[in-house]
Amino acid sequence: MRSAWERRKGAPERGRQRRRGRAAATTAAVAALVAAPLGAATSAGAAEPRVDNPFAGADQYVNSYWSDNVEAAADRAGGSLGDSMRAVANEPTSVWMDRISAIEGNADGPGLRAHLDAAVAQKRAGTPLVFNLVIYDLPGRDCYALASNGELPAADEGMQRYETEYIDAIVDILDDPAYEDLRIVATVEPDSLPNLVTNSSEPLCQQAAPYYREGVAYALDRLHDVGNVYSYIDAAHAGWLGWPNNAQPAAQLFAEVVGSTEAGFDSVAGFVTNTANSTPLTEPFLEDENFGSGGFVRQAEFYQWNTDFDEADWTAHLYDLLVAEGFPSSIGMLIDTSRNGWGGPDRPSAESTSTDLNTYVDESRVDRRNHRGAWCNPSGAGLGERPQATPSGYPDSHLDAFVWVKPPGESDGASEEIDNDQGKKFDRMCDPTFNSPKLDGLLTGALPDAPLAGQWFESQFAMLVTNAYPPIGDGGTDPGPDPDPDTTAPSVPQGVTATADGTSVSVSWSASTDDTRVTGYSVLVDGEAATTSSTTSATVTGLDPKTTYEITVTARDAAGNTSAASEPVSVTTGADDGGPDPVEGACTAVYSTTNSWSGGYQGQVVVTAGDDGAPGWAVTAPAGLSTTNLWGGVLSGGTITGAAWNADLAPGASTTVGFVANGTAPADGPLACD
Ligand code: BGC
Repeated sequence: MRSAWERRKGAPERGRQRRRGRAAATTAAVAALVAAPLGAATSAGAAEPRVDNPFAGADQYVNSYWSDNVEAAADRAGGSLGDSMRAVANEPTSVWMDRISAIEGNADGPGLRAHLDAAVAQKRAGTPLVFNLVIYDLPGRDCYALASNGELPAADEGMQRYETEYIDAIVDILDDPAYEDLRIVATVEPDSLPNLVTNSSEPLCQQAAPYYREGVAYALDRLHDVGNVYSYIDAAHAGWLGWPNNAQPAAQLFAEVVGSTEAGFDSVAGFVTNTANSTPLTEPFLEDENFGSGGFVRQAEFYQWNTDFDEADWTAHLYDLLVAEGFPSSIGMLIDTSRNGWGGPDRPSAESTSTDLNTYVDESRVDRRNHRGAWCNPSGAGLGERPQATPSGYPDSHLDAFVWVKPPGESDGASEEIDNDQGKKFDRMCDPTFNSPKLDGLLTGALPDAPLAGQWFESQFAMLVTNAYPPIGDGGTDPGPDPDPDTTAPSVPQGVTATADGTSVSVSWSASTDDTRVTGYSVLVDGEAATTSSTTSATVTGLDPKTTYEITVTARDAAGNTSAASEPVSVTTGADDGGPDPVEGACTAVYSTTNSWSGGYQGQVVVTAGDDGAPGWAVTAPAGLSTTNLWGGVLSGGTITGAAWNADLAPGASTTVGFVANGTAPADGPLACD
């Protein structure tokens, strides 16, 4: 059998051309058009030369699809919890390419191109913008766990698909000159190489090992061909690789795999630790000192002789080992601080005075897990440091940034069996009732009622916000220790128009301006937030018939400031939903354009079931619809139907199908639905 490695070496070279310096005019045109709806000042020039730390002086991309989940959760929570949620809604989070269909867009959100277009629109003139991307689809993915098992088998056939249908497809998009002014930061394959260090006795990890090595090297090579991609390899966390017996082999493996790439050590910008984990940045009350007769602090059961208590320790330790292995001293470290805050009522406020080593450690540590190996939806965790470039205070760690790789509020795995077509399985590490042998028989500490890995898990998000450390709104530490925080609200949205169609109201307005950047809008109905939008239009559905409402719009900026409400406009809804009268089993559908540019547009169809529900609903698509990307449904032969998860609607339930399409947007209005 020809190994995957041999196949790669023998394969014709793909994507080798570099694209610097071509098509600047196209870039300018695309950027200007996409930027227009948000009113962001954008200009494109020649692509910049590579920099040492891509985060320095840069904004980071705010994923409005994540922000919308946060805003909706905030609306539902209300009160001070809602306010705290809203305060972090504009934090930048990474975009995960967790399966091949994520590239074009699927039920979990729009595709890579739509995100990159939005990033170009967010970019401010003269300020670089980092787009955080996660590469996560290796054959035999997640070999030591089940919750994030993937779609590709650990076999040559899986490797072939990984290279051609996944990495090459991503690189083709990233290589588009329209994106050459973005700094694309790629987190490369979480948990893969670390699993080869510590779990090589596991048959599934043995089987996956050649594909992990080959796949990571292939990804690094292809990503490096795109001049503006900065790759950071995932390096687990302190509680996984911190022991010298793990750390040294890890540094060697990283050097071996990166050393095998075409550009050698130059193919990476650095390493990212703590991805989707909750190991604290620091343990402020603990040092690995001599504890007297009990031995060193490291000997406590919780640390099991591991001297790296936190991510500050681990990144400093790893940096030294990597440089000793030949990596250049310019490499930088990223720490995923999305969920390692450990604040809230259970956070210790002082060092314990106990003379018993285990009690002393348990009372002093801010990490409240039962065991450092507990990785799934850990209860008690909080949001950590907000994303931030070149954080100070950790000189030995050579930090390029704190980043939020794991979008807080997205599950690590289901707490019970849930059918899915992504290859994900039920891992009992996510079951709160399970005493796991991997945790020396301790309970997992996982939150109950968790959905599938990657799905929105609102009760987890509420907990993370409640337990944030630094706390939200705490003396200027949120969002990040900005010495000169932006407190200027965006300008009030102008030119609001509202037209009713049955019980739906389409609202549009002109773009707001701001000293930083506008990241979205809220539409209020009679003073209550009804929906959010990242463009300059939105549709509110489900209003009462024959009722007059006052519509206002507010704008929010990247720093979380919200403008005053616009001048109210009145609108009176019609007799019914504007479509045919609901009949048994029927549904209504309303089309609206959410964004448009020369030659294309983004639209949505909101489908609402009638009183008897709408099993197997089908909507007649707008005439001539030609989509490049559609999520939340399936388009076939001019008819839109639901995806597996939303094909059947309960009485009164709604679902939204979104798409990006070619051509000119049709008029907003009702569509036939049955
Ligand atoms: C899941 C992915 C998801 C990611 C971010 C991972 O655990 O397997 O599907 O995209 O988390 O939430």
